Amino acid sequence: MKTLTIRRPDDWHLHLRDGAVLEGVIADTSRHFARAIIMPNLVPPVVTAQDAVAYRDRILTALPQGDRFQPLMTLYLTEGTDPDDVAAAKESGLITAVKLYPAGATTNSHGGVRDIDKAMPVLERMAEIGLPLCVHGEVTTPEVDIFDREAVFIETVLDPLRNRLPELKVTMEHVTTKDGVDYIMGSSGNLAGTITTHHLIINRNAILVGGIRPHYYCLPVAKRENHRLALRAAAASGDKRFFLGTDSAPHVDPLKECGCGCAGIYTSPNTMSCLAHVFEEENALDKLEAFTSLNGPAWYGMAPNEETMTLVRQEQPVSYPSKRDTGAGAITVFDPMFPLHWQVVE
Ligand code: DOR
Ligand code: ZN
Repeated sequence: MKTLTIRRPDDWHLHLRDGAVLEGVIADTSRHFARAIIMPNLVPPVVTAQDAVAYRDRILTALPQGDRFQPLMTLYLTEGTDPDDVAAAKESGLITAVKLYPAGATTNSHGGVRDIDKAMPVLERMAEIGLPLCVHGEVTTPEVDIFDREAVFIETVLDPLRNRLPELKVTMEHVTTKDGVDYIMGSSGNLAGTITTHHLIINRNAILVGGIRPHYYCLPVAKRENHRLALRAAAASGDKRFFLGTDSAPHVDPLKECGCGCAGIYTSPNTMSCLAHVFEEENALDKLEAFTSLNGPAWYGMAPNEETMTLVRQEQPVSYPSKRDTGAGAITVFDPMFPLHWQVVE
């Protein structure tokens, strides 16, 4: 029997939603993760410090009794965001980062940024005070093919922004391409990337081969196999600039299984079992802790968690529920399409 003990992990990119979905999903994160960066794309979005305080309270209220999970709040950047409000929210310890959604890039992003010039006063202030920017790195121009959106974003938005504001700390979230991995590896500082569980496991065939499979649809959309392999190599390398952000994004089944389904994959329940499997396949179980528990806190200037997590590899496959029932309806849990053998035991 193989056993692996690591520092308790954190999730550096998570959607918890609100109301009945929040209540239904929060335990799947707080069971395994000590902290998570909470995405602000609610309806309406979390734009001001006041919104973030109220949302943090709702998350803490929804937590199961006895769980010590810490939500790390973010603000949703708009062209009207007030730099003073952002600076005060950072100063008080309320927020960990600000999130840039290019308008129209994904779920509830229509209030995001159309013209980055309009957000420059906030971004300049963030660079000054050392507040990281989390970026959904895709352009939304209709002429750009959906599979090229990340690469074009790097070239036309991210690189110019980083040249203009080299002191700004940028987290390129849910990197899905070799272009993204190479860009981060080639940078000289102030740039890191999160990688999701599912992008280490699926390529675009999962969505399209043998029928259309909405539970594998997310944004950025999964790419070709060579990109998945680049992501696996980056995650398994232990390189400090790469760490886990699950982008676990619950939508109730009717919103996925329909003529125009939402983007998002719900991976919180089985993420650690999936990741142990991936790292074992990569012969890199010794790097799992760096990816899930050390590199993220180092980037955000926090101490790693004191508590530990133990995973055991068992002969019998570990079972997870295929759906999470919530007061708002059932949410399908990510199916990695292979049996999982690593079980979180404590
Ligand atoms: O697949 C995704 N789902 N990607 C995102 O960027 C947003 C998320 C959501 O909120 O559902
Ligand atoms: Zn997300």
